[in-house]
Amino acid sequence: MASAVIPYFPSASHGTQQEKGYLPGLNWTEAAAQIMMQMQQVDLQLWGHSGRVARYAFLLAQAYGLDEDAQLSAALSGLLHDVGKLALPVELLCLPKRLSTAERTQVESHVALGVLQLQQLQVPPDIILAVAHHHERWDGSGYPSGLRGISTSLCGRILGVVDVFDALSTARPYKQAWQPQAVTDTLNAMAKNQKLDSILVEIFLSQVRSRML
Ligand SMILES: [Fe+2]
Repeated sequence: MASAVIPYFPSASHGTQQEKGYLPGLNWTEAAAQIMMQMQQVDLQLWGHSGRVARYAFLLAQAYGLDEDAQLSAALSGLLHDVGKLALPVELLCLPKRLSTAERTQVESHVALGVLQLQQLQVPPDIILAVAHHHERWDGSGYPSGLRGISTSLCGRILGVVDVFDALSTARPYKQAWQPQAVTDTLNAMAKNQKLDSILVEIFLSQVRSRML
């Protein structure tokens, strides 16, 4: 018999489950699986995005030449990179408009919220670091820490590339999916403007072309 999903986020208004709980007795991989099941129930779009980011991160880590452990780490980081959003009001993530400054600050808090939750689950530090860094930018203009260049972990930079790719190439409540050429052009422009790691962008786009992602 399938076990019930144990709600992980005690303060989540994202969905209907409000029961308090920190997944006692589960190791972190079991707990992560429970979180993903919770995500599937409360936000299908976020769940789909997380799965695709995990797949792309795995492929990019592989194409970059990382070993199998690092490839797996990249995939798991992709799966968990936005878990902090489960602690935010679902309405906030679905606003079909440009966010106000206050709303944007609240959305950006998903990084710190996710890191906190993953630390409580004792998720491996390299995965937590990647989650902490997935919105940093090469030129220091990202958040939450404004890290520059390789101060951002490699896996964090991998997530940065594939997260943007998926965000642009799929529909959201506030926008339609972009055409493949526009997505490619934007990623190249972000590499040129030092927003994303240019080597990772080049490798990923070559994968996109060869695999027709
Ligand atoms: Fe994110």
